[in-house]
Amino acid sequence: MSLQGIVHIAQQTMQRFLTPGDIVVDATVGAGYDTSFLAKSVGPKGHVYGFDVQEEALTRATDTLLKADLMDRVTLFNAGHETMADHLPPETHGLIKAVSFNLGYLPASDSPVTTLAETSLAAIETAMKLLHRRGVISIAIYGGHPQGQIEQKRLKAWAAGVSYDEFRIASYEFTNKARNQETLLLMERARPQTRG
Ligand SMILES: C[S@@+](CC[C@H](N)C(=O)[O-])C[C@H]1O[C@@H](n2cnc3c(N)ncnc32)[C@H](O)[C@@H]1O
Repeated sequence: MSLQGIVHIAQQTMQRFLTPGDIVVDATVGAGYDTSFLAKSVGPKGHVYGFDVQEEALTRATDTLLKADLMDRVTLFNAGHETMADHLPPETHGLIKAVSFNLGYLPASDSPVTTLAETSLAAIETAMKLLHRRGVISIAIYGGHPQGQIEQKRLKAWAAGVSYDEFRIASYEFTNKARNQETLLLMERARPQTRG
C-alpha cells in the first residue's frame, strides 16, 4: 500500500462522478491516456470532447483510441481549451459531467509547446460555466519546469479566491516535496446542503 500520485487521485475522483452515457471534456488530450480513461468511463452511449493545440498530440491520441476501439465516442478538436465554449455543441452546455486538465508538455516529445497560466485560467473559468450541477473539474499542475511553476502559483492563488459558496476546491499535494511539486485541484459546485 502506498499513497497515490495526482493522476490516480484525479482519475479515481472523476470516476466517482461519472455514469455511463455522460458527456465529458478532456481539455489537454496529449497522448490520449486521459481521453481513453474518460472514454471507457462514459461507455459507448457517452461522449468525450477533447482539445489540444498540437497536431502531434491528436495523431498520437487518435492512434491510442483507435487501438482501444474507443474512437466511436470521442470528438477531438485541434484547438485551445480556452475556446471550448465555441466548439462544444450548445445542447451540451451545462451538462458536462467532468472536465480534465492535465497541464504541461506533451509526454515523450521534443515539442516546446506547453500550457500557459493565462489560457489555462480562461479555460477553467469557461469549464465552470459549462459544468453540470453535479460535475467535477480536475486540474493536474506540474511544477517541475518554469512555466509549470508559474501556472502552479497563479492557479493556486486564483483557486484560493473563488467563492466557497459557489465552488468547492480541494487541493492535493505531497506537502513536504521540495522539488518538482505536483498539485491537483478538484472542483465541484457548492450545493446548499453542503454549505458550512
Ligand atoms: C501534459 S500533456 C497532457 C497529457 C494527456 N492528458 C495524456 O493523457 O497524455 C499537456 C497537453 O496540453 C496541450 N496544450 C497546450 N496548450 C493547450 C491549450 N491552450 N489548449 C489545449 N491543449 C493545450 C499540449 O499540447 C500537451 O499535449
